[in-house]
Amino acid sequence: MTDLRPRRLRTTPAMRRLVAQTHINPANLVLPIFVQEGIDAPVDLSSLPGVQRQSLDSAARLAAQAAQAGLGGVMLFGVPREDKKDPWGTQAVAEDGILNKALESVRAEVGNAIVIMADTCLDEFTDHGHCGVLGAGGVVDNDATIEIYANQAVAQARAGAHIVSPSGMMDNQVAAIRCGLDAHGFADVGILAYAAKYASAFYGPFREAVACTLEGDRRTYQLDPANAREGRLEAEIDIAQGADMVMVKPAGYYLDVIADVAAISPVPVAAYQVSGEYAMIKAAGERGWIDADAALRESVVSILRAGADIVLTYGAMELVGER
Ligand code: PBG
Repeated sequence: MTDLRPRRLRTTPAMRRLVAQTHINPANLVLPIFVQEGIDAPVDLSSLPGVQRQSLDSAARLAAQAAQAGLGGVMLFGVPREDKKDPWGTQAVAEDGILNKALESVRAEVGNAIVIMADTCLDEFTDHGHCGVLGAGGVVDNDATIEIYANQAVAQARAGAHIVSPSGMMDNQVAAIRCGLDAHGFADVGILAYAAKYASAFYGPFREAVACTLEGDRRTYQLDPANAREGRLEAEIDIAQGADMVMVKPAGYYLDVIADVAAISPVPVAAYQVSGEYAMIKAAGERGWIDADAALRESVVSILRAGADIVLTYGAMELVGER
């Protein structure tokens, strides 16, 4: 038997670089951006170190920096004024709703230099904080909600989104949105479906970021963390309904789901390193318990290694050496 010595390929940095299977490519990273109504300078988020809520102007500047840095995309979220929230999330569809205005502002600034994505969901806009409208007994009404998503997607396309991203986990949301976009002349606007989105405790800091008012939970629409098979089923359904890309979310604790979906998906697979995943790395780094830069890099490499083609992360700019 030959003396097998795999360590030969680890001897020098150049050797390790030569044989590295996974690389972080800026073009495959997407930066989430929160845009808040009624502010004129960025506001820090205490639970997401280094991340801020942007004004309409600063969001456009940040998107331009992201494009300059070679990132693949930006994902926009809206934070409306508290008194503009209502049970139906009207501001999600309104032309002058904060997210639609932000899309317009970003598109005017960057054009087609970077892919502009929009979160297509009602939770930022409803006063009860759920991702859809409520029916009898306070349960989210699936079919009434997807009609609104279709209108929201059309408004976002009109405002300049290249990609709309339904994140509410309603059944048939992709079909409804595709139908709405096509009927309004937006056949070229794509859909990134949050296909396997789990009811996760790791969304905590995001809820602060968008000032979400939810009481209760989303367990009747988001997936149970115990279930892998269901994640794959949801991806299959979204692909069948015309999703141009599918997403797994969160990312780092769901690498098996990413691998499963990547194995069957004929379309690109995205993964969202969510607020809690990012905040934990930052918090431990601030205490000097881990090297946050190295941990961020390792976590994103792991998500790519599992099979993701695209990664959404709050660390996108730092990963490409900006900030
Ligand atoms: C829902 C939405 C959520 C996130 C993105 N889109 C929150 C939720 O489902 O409660 C979470 C993102 C993150 O935690 O970074 N529109």
